[in-house]
Amino acid sequence: MIIKDYLDLLPAADHDEILALRRDYLKKLQSDKKGVVAHRLPFESVRHLKASCLDFANDVVTIGRREDLSRDEFDLVTKVMRGFMPWRKGPYNIFGIDIDAEWRSCRKWDRVLPFLPDIKDKIVADIGASNGYYMFRMVPHRPQAVIGFEPYLQHYFTFQTLNNFAGCDNLHMEFLGVEHLGRFAAAFDVVFLMGILYHRISPIESLKEVKKSMKRGGVLMVESQAIPGDEPVALFPERRYAKAPGTYFIPTARCLKNWMLRAGFIDVEIFCTHPMSSKEQRQTEWMTFESYTDFIDPQNPSLTVEGYPAPLRVFLKGFAG
Ligand SMILES: C[S@@+](CC[C@H](N)C(=O)[O-])C[C@H]1O[C@@H](n2cnc3c(N)ncnc32)[C@H](O)[C@@H]1O
Repeated sequence: MIIKDYLDLLPAADHDEILALRRDYLKKLQSDKKGVVAHRLPFESVRHLKASCLDFANDVVTIGRREDLSRDEFDLVTKVMRGFMPWRKGPYNIFGIDIDAEWRSCRKWDRVLPFLPDIKDKIVADIGASNGYYMFRMVPHRPQAVIGFEPYLQHYFTFQTLNNFAGCDNLHMEFLGVEHLGRFAAAFDVVFLMGILYHRISPIESLKEVKKSMKRGGVLMVESQAIPGDEPVALFPERRYAKAPGTYFIPTARCLKNWMLRAGFIDVEIFCTHPMSSKEQRQTEWMTFESYTDFIDPQNPSLTVEGYPAPLRVFLKGFAG
C-alpha cells in the first residue's frame, strides 16, 4: 500500500483521527476479498515496473513508453489496464497503451486552467479524484502536495497503479470521501470539488465540510452539473436524473453560487457554463457501458430521458472566508 506521509505538512489536521480512519480503511481493504482479487492483486502484480518518462502537460497523460517493458511485461500491463475498466477519466497513454476513457477530461482541465490559482508549493486537495487524471495534470504546476480523496476501490487502485509507475512522490490518495474532510482542519490552500455536489444528499453540508479543510483565504474550484436558468433554484428529480440514481439536487449556476456563499465562501465567481455533449462523454473501447447519448431524449436533446432539462456544466471559484 502506498501511503507516504504528507500529514507532517498539515499541523492543524487531526492526525490521530486521520490515522484511525486509515486503519479502518486498511482493514476494510484487507477484508474485501472480491476487491482484493479485482483490484489490489493486479496493482501488486505490476508494482515492480517503473516508467522512464512522463508527460502531464498535454491532453493525454503519458506514463512510460513501450520500450520500457519486455513483451511479457507489456502483456501483463495491458491485462491489468483492461481489468481496471470501465475507465471514466482520461485520456492516458500507459507504456504505449492508448486508453481512451469515457470522459475527455482534458476539456474540463482546459476550462479550469485560465482560472487556476498559483498552486506552486501549495497543498492541494482533489475531492472525488477518480483515477487521478487532474492530479497528474497539476504536477507541472509544481504543488508541494496533492491529496486525492476517492472512496471507490477501482478508482483508488487504478490511481495507485498509475502513480506507482510514475513515481510522483508529491501525489497521495486517501480512500476517504468529502464527509471526512472536517478532520483535515485548515489543511489545504486550494481545493478542487468537481463532479461531486449533485451526488450529495446535503450539498451545503458538504461545502461546509470542505471549508473546514481549507486555510483562510484558500481557493475553492467547484464544477458541477447544472440546469439552465437565471433563478436561484435546484431541480430535485423524483428518482433518477439522466439515468443516474445517485443524483439529488441539480442547481442553476446562481443557486450553486448561493450555496457557496451560505457555506461561508466569499468573492464567488461563475467563470464558465457550457452544455454537456457526447463529444466529451461517450462510450469507448475502454468504457463499454451506456454514456451521454443514452441519457438524453433522442427526439429532443434539450431534455434528459426522464423529461428534465438536459445538463449544463458550470464552474465557480470562491475563497474560504
Ligand atoms: C462524477 S465523478 C467526478 C470525478 C472528477 N472529480 C471529475 O470532475 O471528473 C465523482 C467521483 O467522486 C467519487 N466519490 C464517490 N463518493 C464520494 C464521496 N463520498 N466523497 C468524495 N468522492 C466521492 C466517485 O467515486 C467518482 O470518482
